Amino acid sequence: MAAKLIDGKAVSQKIKMQVKTRVEKLAQQGIVPGLAVVLVGEDSASLTYVKNKKKTCEALGMRSDLHQFPDTLTEQELLAKIDELNSDPGIHGILVQLPLPQQIDEFKVITAISPEKDVDGFHPISVGNMMIGKDAFLPCTPHGIMELLAHYGIDPAGKHAVVIGRSNIVGKPIGQLLLQKDATVTYCHSKTKDLANFTAQADILIAAIGRAKFIDRTFIKPGAVIIDVGMNRDENGKLCGDVDFEDVQETASFVTPVPGGVGPMTIAMLMENTLESAEKGLAKTKQA
Ligand code: GUN
Repeated sequence: MAAKLIDGKAVSQKIKMQVKTRVEKLAQQGIVPGLAVVLVGEDSASLTYVKNKKKTCEALGMRSDLHQFPDTLTEQELLAKIDELNSDPGIHGILVQLPLPQQIDEFKVITAISPEKDVDGFHPISVGNMMIGKDAFLPCTPHGIMELLAHYGIDPAGKHAVVIGRSNIVGKPIGQLLLQKDATVTYCHSKTKDLANFTAQADILIAAIGRAKFIDRTFIKPGAVIIDVGMNRDENGKLCGDVDFEDVQETASFVTPVPGGVGPMTIAMLMENTLESAEKGLAKTKQA
């Protein structure tokens, strides 16, 4: 039997519609959620992501400002821009697209963003709060994956979740979120010996490797839920994930496609975080 499709496009659409309704409600109180996106350099993948974020914001009735700089921008200039955005009351979320050119220290930039506007969830304060299960903006891709699992009634409790990848953006936080939902979590990475030995024990497999169609049926346990975070090009230049989608069909119980799986969820969660930041700001104004 073929695996069930986890339709990130459809689920993200539903979430975006809910966001749109809440944005309309805020607008009645004179507030338009605002996202500032900062892009340094000309990386074409980054430019595509950033344009997509702007387009989605606008479709949901939110404000989106794109601040684009040449890759010669200095760290000081970028930090000055972030300061300005931190104190701009019309901006509720700040996103600095990564990677940054090498003359700029990513950590310095991430920590300069006010945690109250950290809609990417990358600030150490956000990461720390997430780790201990306190209120924080969750990083968008891991949050989107948790929403997908919930939508399809996949409860991580007691399941063995195997995460391949240990980046700060995806691997590390998705493991933590699964742990908070009572999964038993194993992290694998480029230095893991005998990867298939671990993946074959996974009830939930998160693939965030960056290698086209690397995970095939030989890696997975029958009935496993497969979440593909990869965004690669295959030998014909076609967009594909880290999972060989066709090959795992008869073995997996659920699988996300690429495109149309995790990707659209990431943007939907960014929209939700920006909206929530604006709603929190309103709540504060009302208290004052
Ligand atoms: N680069 C790749 N993914 C992301 C992301 O989620 N946020 C930011 N800011 N940069 C990225």
